[in-house]
Order: sequence, then structure tokens, then C-alpha cells
Amino acid sequence: DWTMAAYREEMVEAIREQVGDAKVICALSGGVDSSVAAALIHEAIGENLTCVFVDHGLLRLNEGEEVVGMFRDHMNLRVIHAQEQELFLGELEGVSDPETKRKIIGKLFIDVFQKYADEIEGATFLAQGTLYPDVIESVSFSGGPSVTIKSHHNVGGLPEKMGLKLVEPLRELFKDEVRALGRELGLPDSFIGRHPFPGPGLAIRCPGEITRDKLEILRKADAVYIDQIRKHGLYDEIWQAFVAILPVRTVGVMGDGRTYDYACALRAVTSVDGMTADYYPFSHDFLGETATRIINEVEGINRVTYDITSKPPGTIEWE
Ligand code: XMP
Repeated sequence: DWTMAAYREEMVEAIREQVGDAKVICALSGGVDSSVAAALIHEAIGENLTCVFVDHGLLRLNEGEEVVGMFRDHMNLRVIHAQEQELFLGELEGVSDPETKRKIIGKLFIDVFQKYADEIEGATFLAQGTLYPDVIESVSFSGGPSVTIKSHHNVGGLPEKMGLKLVEPLRELFKDEVRALGRELGLPDSFIGRHPFPGPGLAIRCPGEITRDKLEILRKADAVYIDQIRKHGLYDEIWQAFVAILPVRTVGVMGDGRTYDYACALRAVTSVDGMTADYYPFSHDFLGETATRIINEVEGINRVTYDITSKPPGTIEWE
């Protein structure tokens, strides 16, 4: 893409000018925005950028290793893999209220990021993947539905507290432009096209109390579901898809035996911006095949349901 190639050059120059020889830190979430921001800044200043990937133990199957591996090995970035699963899961023990979960995760995330950032000598800038709609939204939509109903966590307020200046090279771009820029920078297509994933991760896909046991079951079920969606060529048509493990056990039969395992809900929606959404009209064949696979392949689940709620009145996530 010619335009993106030109934009890339222009931004690389602008970042060099803004940052000079200073060191930059970046919280890498695995999402498209922070990833493209990191790749662009890396191109501009190389080793002077250090990324911190906080693993809160609420990621999908193999996600931490995949994201860190891609940036370290494929893109050559300096990435610290903050293994803080114990800390987060410990603090979340016994917590079932959705907003309390978000607050705990948001606060710990900032503490952890700050702890690792403090170890990076001489960092004076914080990189963020803020997009143009984020800039607009923080003005016109503040207090709007998705903001008041659920508190989204980010590192807002952190730069001031840590005395850092901001580098936000994507502030003029819309999502589709960020994707084009990411491709231009050599991020794999499979990565650029990934569905959005919420900051609190699997915590809000595990309604009620989070246990390691439930998380492990959820990860496996989610991996089977996404595999099914990819195999049927539906991934790019769907805006977001995931499994939620329900806080209820149900009775089933397997062979000659009776089972008493968790029920789960599949979710898949189409949307433009996440503010409104329609459930995805899977075929019954697809749903039946997926349910069979999950029950056969994932120990701990014996019942699969499909969530056909649109937003509004539902939200996309279960919490
Ligand atoms: P809801 O469930 O509010 O989700 O319809 C709309 C979009 O926002 C994502 N989401 C979050 N993202 N922190 C995030 O970073 C959060 O606390 C959070 N809650 C929801 C959700 O995945 C969907 O894309």
C-alpha cells in the first residue's frame, strides 16, 4: 500500500524527532493497536524501546508464549514477559463481582507494569496505541453506555504518575488504517485480523468465582471453538467469538456413566465498533458439530449452549 508506506516513513521520522536518544517503554497487550505502535516505534528507535507483556494468568491457550515469541523472535523487539499469574489469580480468589474483578485486575496491571518499567533504566517515554476514535471518544462519549456500564482498564493516568511523556504514533488513524500499517510493518495477517480481546481477559468469561480449574477448562473449550470457526472459514466474518464457562454444573451421560460437569456458552457476534452487536447466525450443523467436539475433547464440560442475545439488550461479554 503506497499511502501506508509513505505514512510509515513519515511516522518513523516523527518518532525519532520526538524521542531522540531517550528510552521508551510500552505495555504490549497482544492487541492490534499496541502491537502496531510497538512495531512502528521499534523501527524508529530499535533497542531503545522495551515492551512489557503482563501475563495475568487470564490469557487464552498458549497466548502469552505466542505473542512474546512473535515479537521477540519474528520482530526482534526487546520484550519482558512479566509472569504474574500467581499474583493476579491470588488476588482474584473468591471474588465474583464483575466490577470488583475489573478493578483488581486494572490496579494490579498498573502496579506490575510500573514495577517492571522502574527496572528499565532511563525510560522517559511511554508508548500507547491510542487511535483517533479513542481521542474522540474520550471527549464526546465519556459517560456513554459502554464506559459507565463497565469500567475498561487501561494505563490512563500512569504517565503523569511515573513522570513519563507519551508517544502515540497512531493518534491520527482509524482501525482499518492501523491494520494496513501493521501489514506494512510485517506483522502476520493472522495476527492483524485477530478478534478484540478484553484487558481483564478470561476473568469476565468466567462468571462468578474464578478458579484455576475453570480457567483451564475454559481455555481448552475456547481453543476448540475458535478452531472450528477457522476451519469453517468464518473467523473473518465474525467480530468477536469466545466461550464463557458457566458457574453451574449439569448432569449428563457418557458411556454407562453419569457426569456432573460444567455447562458453557458459545458467543459470536457481528459488529462495527462493539457498541451494538448481533449474534452470529451459525448453521445448526456447525453448532451441533462444535458442541460434540467440545464435549468429547474437553474434560469438565458436558453441556454446550449458544448465546443468541444481541447488544443491546445484552452485552458482548458475559460480565
Ligand atoms: P461489552 O461486553 O461491553 O463489550 O458489550 C464491548 C467490547 O469491549 C470489550 N470489553 C472490554 N475491553 N476491558 C477491555 O479492555 C474491559 O473491561 C472490557 N469489557 C468489555 C469486549 O470484549 C467487547 O469487544
